[in-house]
Amino acid sequence: MRNPRDVPPLAPAPAPTVDLDAEADLTRCGALKDYWYVACLSTELTSRAPLARTFFGTNVVLFRDEHGRPVALRDRCLHRNARLSAGAVFDGRLGCPYHGWVYDGSGAVVEVPSLGPSQCGESLDARGHARAGLQVRPCDLGRLQRFDTLEQDGLVFVFMGGDSQRARRPAFRVPFWGQPEWSVYFMVTRFPNGVTNLVENFMDVPHTVFVHEGWFRNTARKRVPATVKRSEGSVLVTYKQEQDTVSGLGRLFNPSGMPMVHTDHYVAPNITRVDYLWGERSGFVINSQITPIGPTDSLVYTAISYRLPYDLPRSLVGHALKPLVRWYTTQVITQDVEIMKVQREGLLNGPGGGVFSGTEADLLHSDIEAYRRWLLEGGHGPGPADEERDIAFWI
Ligand code: FES
Ligand SMILES: [Fe+2]
Repeated sequence: MRNPRDVPPLAPAPAPTVDLDAEADLTRCGALKDYWYVACLSTELTSRAPLARTFFGTNVVLFRDEHGRPVALRDRCLHRNARLSAGAVFDGRLGCPYHGWVYDGSGAVVEVPSLGPSQCGESLDARGHARAGLQVRPCDLGRLQRFDTLEQDGLVFVFMGGDSQRARRPAFRVPFWGQPEWSVYFMVTRFPNGVTNLVENFMDVPHTVFVHEGWFRNTARKRVPATVKRSEGSVLVTYKQEQDTVSGLGRLFNPSGMPMVHTDHYVAPNITRVDYLWGERSGFVINSQITPIGPTDSLVYTAISYRLPYDLPRSLVGHALKPLVRWYTTQVITQDVEIMKVQREGLLNGPGGGVFSGTEADLLHSDIEAYRRWLLEGGHGPGPADEERDIAFWI
């Protein structure tokens, strides 16, 4: 018989649903690194100054080479490891702020001021260099790790997984980019949470009536039926509720009360696209691409694409309303930043954080987690099986 004073052994704590640390660590993130991630807006990367970014905990410096092409290098000087992003760009080359070593777009050292004026091969050829007793040439000093880059639709992307030929899919296209009837603008937001929690927030309808009450959706005590389709690395949620409305700017987009078509789309591993369409002539699309900085730190590049149903020249209307739409979306995103901070505070407070529970409304979250977990574990085999389900929840 058991002594009543014996303390029953504690059941092992369940594993966290989401391993934020591993997901944001370049050496442990498995196949999550085998995708293009947004590094910056094209307009943020000038030919005058370097830009510092962090991907999966790894510091990277970005600059434009002599042809204006984006370059991404390890942000650590080969000499004494100073952060190169604190340096300067001139003629498409990057100079370290500490002793002035200069790197070209391939990451090679091309100039070392302390080697004197004959180092560059300008006044001395290789034999002359040796005859002069100079031991070291800049090109002998090695090369910084370089990451592939790509520029498209107003965004600069970086590939952290080695050769970008291995990318698991092409860089994501910004919805309606370059289409004259649509206006598109970007918002860049630092969010205090990891990628999984952020994509779940961006795909999550039940939170809108709490976090964005009055701004976006009001509590309506109504049942929301939807279909969740998981296939080929994406989760598509189609809401079957044509009379659903969004408050705030909703009336501006839908003055004649057209039925609303609402879909939420997750594209593995880090992208969401939310579409609100009213008929053929009006729409509001929010596309978020999330770049992991660290376990609870991300940069989110949000493209807002919209089209208004008025008969005036569309570009004119879209342009005139941009400050208002931008102000509105900034308010909504700020509310999400705040709630992601609140989630993070709970999550990181002692053991047991990251063990989630849920209802039918969270089923799409488990689909997202299934894809991300599979990629975290290396992304081998066919991955989570295709699946389609009907769900319903109340807002
Ligand atoms: S640390 Fe960069 S030049 Fe010395
Ligand atoms: Fe939100």
